[in-house]
Amino acid sequence: MNDKRRIIIDCDPGHDDAVAIMLAARNPKIELLGITTVNGNQTLEKVTRNALNVCQYLNIDVPICKGLAGPIVRTAPPVEERVHGDSGLDGPVFDPLTKELDPRHAVDFIIETVMGSDKPVTLVPTGPLSNVAMAMRKEPRILENIDEIVLMGGAYQHGNVTPAAEFNIYADAEAAHVVFSCGVPVVMMGLDLTRQALCYPEVVERMSHVKTKAGKLFVDLMNFFCMTQKRTFGWAGGPLHDPTTVAYLIEPSCIETKEMFTEIDITGGQSHGRTNCDFFNLMTDKEKNSKVAVKLDVEKFWDIVEENLKLYEEL
Ligand code: RIB
Ligand code: CA
Repeated sequence: MNDKRRIIIDCDPGHDDAVAIMLAARNPKIELLGITTVNGNQTLEKVTRNALNVCQYLNIDVPICKGLAGPIVRTAPPVEERVHGDSGLDGPVFDPLTKELDPRHAVDFIIETVMGSDKPVTLVPTGPLSNVAMAMRKEPRILENIDEIVLMGGAYQHGNVTPAAEFNIYADAEAAHVVFSCGVPVVMMGLDLTRQALCYPEVVERMSHVKTKAGKLFVDLMNFFCMTQKRTFGWAGGPLHDPTTVAYLIEPSCIETKEMFTEIDITGGQSHGRTNCDFFNLMTDKEKNSKVAVKLDVEKFWDIVEENLKLYEEL
């Protein structure tokens, strides 16, 4: 039995989700068991097509299962067309799609895979948490075989979809409440961390010298993503949110975390969807349910990105 970290990526590709998949699929420390998709950056149909296109182009042969088309309780927020475009993955041009979906629903895939694994599985959600929460509710026994949930979401400072809330959490706050209160340790890559992973033009230029299919896809993705991030938020470099989850799995030392109690605001008010992180441990009666990322070793992060882009077929 190998000692690879078994993971499932639950995502809404999304340019940054696509890079997270690229980092995980060929890394020798990781066994990517499957990819599940959820409504978020774009509609479920579009993000699922995007996941299929990325995996077809990069010859990533793992099950891809479609999940929830919206949040569990409320209506979905608008898709992030401003950032990811009409397709959800504007920029790259893919060959006609022939790769097929696995027929299982994402929730059932997560349950079957976790229950069927002879060692613990790590869940890596990089979109709204609807599929993950539903799997926990449908089959609570999966909690016994999940070692960690390493997710992109939340912020202990400023949000990006409201002043208080980050998109993935806000999009299905009730689902996030289920996940953060399930008892399995959550490693939270919030905006406080991911806004340190700014993909400046010089980073794109550096990766353009990686003459593999993944190197080319990274450049095609980032040329669009960085343009929309600058246009929308004024960022000189787009924050590459989702890959920080996989970078943490590959090299935990590249990210400093702080243990604390985190709860989700599901009251429906101005701060709905906020991750209320007890940064100064004020609520001493509450169990610390999360490791919240606070500092990124930026140089090491981009080295990890470059090293993993090199693991794919040459152009
Ligand atoms: O707020 C950033 C998150 O929302 C990222 O995961 C991005 O892909 C979108 O899903
Ligand atoms: Ca995402």
